[in-house]
Amino acid sequence: MMLPKKSIVALLASLSFVAAVPQGGATSTSTSSSSSSSSSSSRTTSSPSRSAASSSAPATRPGLSSVAHGSFSGSASVTGALRASSVGTRISVGGVPPAETTYPSDGRLHDAQPAPYVPAGGIGTNTTPIYNVQSDFDYESLALALYQEWIELDLFQFGLQTFSDSDFQDAGLTAEDRALIEFMAEQEIGHATLISNILGEEAPQQCNYNYPFTTVREFVDFSQKLTRFGESGVYGFLAHLDSREAATLLLQSISTEARQQLIFRQFDGLFPMPVWFEVGVPQSWAWTLLAPYISSCPENQTRLAWQNFPALWILNQPNPARYNASEGYNETLGAGTNTLNSTGISGSAACYNNKDKSGDCNPAITQNRSIPLSYPGRVVNLTWEEPGKLVGPNNSYVTSSQAGTPAYVAWVSQLNVTYSALNLSSNTSGSTVQPNVETFAGDPAANGTLFIAITDSNTFLTPFNLSLINDHVVAGPALYQAG
Ligand SMILES: *[C@@H]1O[C@H](CO)[C@@H](O)[C@H](O)[C@H]1NC(C)=O
Ligand SMILES: *[C@@H]1O[C@H](CO)[C@@H](O)[C@H](O)[C@H]1NC(C)=O
Ligand SMILES: *[C@@H]1O[C@H](CO)[C@@H](O)[C@H](O)[C@H]1NC(C)=O
Ligand SMILES: *[C@@H]1O[C@H](CO)[C@@H](O)[C@H](O)[C@H]1NC(C)=O
Ligand SMILES: *[C@@H]1O[C@H](CO)[C@@H](O)[C@H](O)[C@H]1NC(C)=O
Ligand SMILES: *[C@@H]1O[C@H](CO)[C@@H](O)[C@H](O)[C@H]1NC(C)=O
Ligand SMILES: *[C@@H]1O[C@H](CO)[C@@H](O)[C@H](O)[C@H]1NC(C)=O
Ligand SMILES: *[C@@H]1O[C@H](CO)[C@@H](O)[C@H](O)[C@H]1NC(C)=O
Ligand SMILES: *[C@@H]1O[C@H](CO)[C@@H](O)[C@H](O)[C@H]1NC(C)=O
Ligand SMILES: *[C@@H]1O[C@H](CO)[C@@H](O)[C@H](O)[C@H]1NC(C)=O
Ligand SMILES: *[C@@H]1O[C@H](CO)[C@@H](O)[C@H](O)[C@H]1NC(C)=O
Ligand SMILES: *[C@@H]1O[C@H](CO)[C@@H](O)[C@H](O)[C@H]1NC(C)=O
Repeated sequence: MMLPKKSIVALLASLSFVAAVPQGGATSTSTSSSSSSSSSSSRTTSSPSRSAASSSAPATRPGLSSVAHGSFSGSASVTGALRASSVGTRISVGGVPPAETTYPSDGRLHDAQPAPYVPAGGIGTNTTPIYNVQSDFDYESLALALYQEWIELDLFQFGLQTFSDSDFQDAGLTAEDRALIEFMAEQEIGHATLISNILGEEAPQQCNYNYPFTTVREFVDFSQKLTRFGESGVYGFLAHLDSREAATLLLQSISTEARQQLIFRQFDGLFPMPVWFEVGVPQSWAWTLLAPYISSCPENQTRLAWQNFPALWILNQPNPARYNASEGYNETLGAGTNTLNSTGISGSAACYNNKDKSGDCNPAITQNRSIPLSYPGRVVNLTWEEPGKLVGPNNSYVTSSQAGTPAYVAWVSQLNVTYSALNLSSNTSGSTVQPNVETFAGDPAANGTLFIAITDSNTFLTPFNLSLINDHVVAGPALYQAG
């Protein structure tokens, strides 16, 4: 039997990038640094130097040899998400498949064992694994994850190159902390290579980026938030992939990303893990948050099918750089991630090295903040954009929404989707109240860096069908800094 060509490519590629995939990054570099875009900064980063690989190890896939930073103001020849020739109107949801409810779950064995010590059942335990993608859903999900790995590779490098050693020291971060960030960049080379190998020749290339931060504190907070949606964006689709083999490898990558997120929280002076469960979100949520930071991609870049929702600002976003996080208003670096703005916070207002206040949010393995970042009952002021705005690489994607009148704020955190009523003050602004819900007794659901969105309904959703929320999203998500 003939395997489809893509499968063969992926199988070979999974063993070594160079076996099946040309080193595409290298051929595209000429378009990056000499681009005609109006980059506001000519600073570039290059791939981290690594110690010589052993001769037997498979090669890594290179990113751009020089990544440009700054905004893009050109126009694109192609706009909008990737579309198939036929597009339905909406997902039709069926009931519970009967076979999913017949197993007795009583602690006894109900079927003959195929071998000693092997209980019957499971999927993919007696076939030869092939690490490829098996559907458009798989390809688009992994391609999105690759866009994410590429930006992380550049982001961690860029932070290290942009700020001086003394800038880091002034933010409480040592040479060893910087070496850890450097190692995180190297991890991204591995993740980008792995996903490229699974996808094959057209795997998205690295792009050029536009970051909002100007201080170490903001870089750390941005990284904490970017890795949050990188991690959650993968949890949202992992168990829905057709390829369980790909899911296995991706899980092993994203577990590393989860550790990066936790470490950036520690660098940010936050409690490392104030939740019992890590949240998953739909692909279009991750893409909405990521796309604004990609200024341009090389010619022939593989495009994505996911949606970009209108941007959402949290006007009174809790600011971890403040001793009292609620004191700042409109103090973020923009919509979406709503990264903290630390410029202009000093003296007794600042959290870091606040001599009067015992510096209870300096970088640390763990600590309590004297004043919690947020709390149930807190009024949250929001503003958002109308759809139809150009965003993302080469301004080539368009924000959109299929939702009706804004009516709720969805709080997506841990295992829960909770809705709070939205009090509109205009068509694109309003307020709500932070809800008080628990996953299980003793675990407040709304904590950590969580996701909120403006919706037109309060449709009941659980972690495995959360993507059905997309039809109801008016704007967002935004990352709310709950704890
Ligand atoms: C994006 O813009 C850059 C700079 O103008 C250009 O080199 C590149 O080909 C464009 N990318 C795409 C995918 O159109
Ligand atoms: C882009 O694709 C076209 C058509 O396949 C090809 O001729 C061209 O060489 C490609 N450009 C790059 C930079 O890969
Ligand atoms: C923190 O700031 C908010 C907003 O100004 C204020 O309402 C609150 O009382 C302050 N909390 C403390 C403990 O000072
Ligand atoms: C928030 O601040 C930005 C500039 O930092 C400004 O453009 C924007 O209008 C402000 N938004 C509100 C609602 O005050
Ligand atoms: C960050 O805060 C400073 C000082 O308050 C302000 O000048 C700057 O415009 C803010 N940055 C953004 C992106 O709003
Ligand atoms: C930190 O917070 C926890 C939970 O709120 C509390 O039990 C503990 O006593 C606090 N520890 C310190 C050292 O403040
Ligand atoms: C979130 O977690 C932090 C750290 O454990 C805690 O201090 C805070 O009170 C929690 N917030 C809520 C709303 O429970
Ligand atoms: C935030 O929302 C509340 C409740 O709607 C409102 O009373 C308050 O004026 C808003 N704050 C700002 C600064 O707009
Ligand atoms: C709704 O918002 C208005 C102002 O925006 C405020 O005066 C009013 O108190 C708010 N109502 C509730 C229930 O929060
Ligand atoms: C607000 O929305 C309503 C209903 O969609 C529309 O009729 C009205 O023109 C909008 N107002 C503004 C100021 O855009
Ligand atoms: C939150 O999720 C847990 C676990 O699925 C569930 O038991 C609980 O009822 C949910 N709470 C709310 C308020 O939805
Ligand atoms: C999502 O799943 C839950 C069961 O876990 C179900 O009760 C709910 O109706 C589903 N939501 C939709 C919109 O299908």
